[in-house]
Amino acid sequence: MTRTTRALIFGAGGQVARDLIPMLVERGMQPILADRLPPEETEGGRALSLYAEARNLPDWRSWWRVLDGMDEPGVRDLIEEIEPDVTYHLAALLSARCEENAGLCWRVNMTLFTNVLEALRSLASGDRRPKMIWPSSIAAFGPLPSSSHHYDAQNEYPRLPTTMYGVTKVASETLGTYYAEKHGVDFRSVRLPGLLNDAEPGGGSSDYANQMYFDAVGGHEPRPCFVGPEARIPFMYMQDAVRALIELAASEESKLTRRVYNIKAFSAPSAEEIEHSIARQVPGFEVRYEPDQRQDYVDSWPDDFDDRPALHDWGWQPEVNSMDQLTRRLLEDLRAKRSDLSLDPSPAA
Ligand SMILES: NC(=O)c1ccc[n+]([C@@H]2O[C@H](COP(=O)([O-])OP(=O)(O)OC[C@H]3O[C@@H](n4cnc5c(N)ncnc54)[C@H](O)[C@@H]3O)[C@@H](O)[C@H]2O)c1
Repeated sequence: MTRTTRALIFGAGGQVARDLIPMLVERGMQPILADRLPPEETEGGRALSLYAEARNLPDWRSWWRVLDGMDEPGVRDLIEEIEPDVTYHLAALLSARCEENAGLCWRVNMTLFTNVLEALRSLASGDRRPKMIWPSSIAAFGPLPSSSHHYDAQNEYPRLPTTMYGVTKVASETLGTYYAEKHGVDFRSVRLPGLLNDAEPGGGSSDYANQMYFDAVGGHEPRPCFVGPEARIPFMYMQDAVRALIELAASEESKLTRRVYNIKAFSAPSAEEIEHSIARQVPGFEVRYEPDQRQDYVDSWPDDFDDRPALHDWGWQPEVNSMDQLTRRLLEDLRAKRSDLSLDPSPAA
């Protein structure tokens, strides 16, 4: 009898896990969830509770372990106990928080990453190559060293970030690739653009877009946008991003020509184009722009990604591939969430 695939999700309470966990369950996998916080104190945990109630999954609480990933023996014990078939490592500090305290960002992001990597290494032997899926980011790239306004980052474009978050992304990509070569861990990664779903974002510099969508259905005056109208980076619907993580995990290792892949959905919109896309569906929606230091982080990232290696090696294809389609889906998701939470749905800002 074949055993159900066990998927460990580390950082189960966050924005990405919010969509990843239901997709894994729907594909018949057994999720084991770890976060430093209990489910009721996280956005992902609260969403999971609603999802589990709707699908009659009363056992879901037993999937959740409260564990600080900085606790190296704790991480090793958990991984040795459950022997995951695939580990999705999502626990991290995000870009805006990382710039506030560079030392803390390095200690936390690199310690979390190496604790998981080392624990998986201890399971590796012979043909047994424990699988680790980890999201890198557009932030692994730095500013374009020319006056061109269009910056299309090829998969192997030099990664010279000017943010601390980006520094930890490049270091982790490199370390994961090294462990795949030398220590039997089947490390795989995608560089993600800004991600949008109905979860409160966790302190990233792309949060200005999430904020616009939340405010468009929130029935209150939109908060000021912390980048200017021209700021431009690629975005992706979260469901597409988590499907990419799952599909990359399911690909045959022999087909992968590299360990880290760019993925994108459609041409990067400016902040103003996002505002206009929302206004086409929420008449009267209007944003005030008050850029702060996060504008510099966003400006240092590419506005386009070459994702042909992902298409070639494991068939990456986004489903939501235009700005207006993304806007429609997100507004629907957010209105459904407000009605699930019995909040008063409001059509306009
Ligand atoms: N959200 C995006 O737009 C985006 C874009 C590109 C890449 N990523 C990457 O995806 C990953 C997940 O991002 P997210 O948006 O879900 O983040 P998030 O901040 O929403 O969630 C992170 C989760 O990790 C948990 N966590 C933090 N420190 C921990 C620790 N010491 N031990 C255990 N758990 C801990 C938090 O409680 C939280 O539930 C990160 O690596 C991030 O860099 C995210």
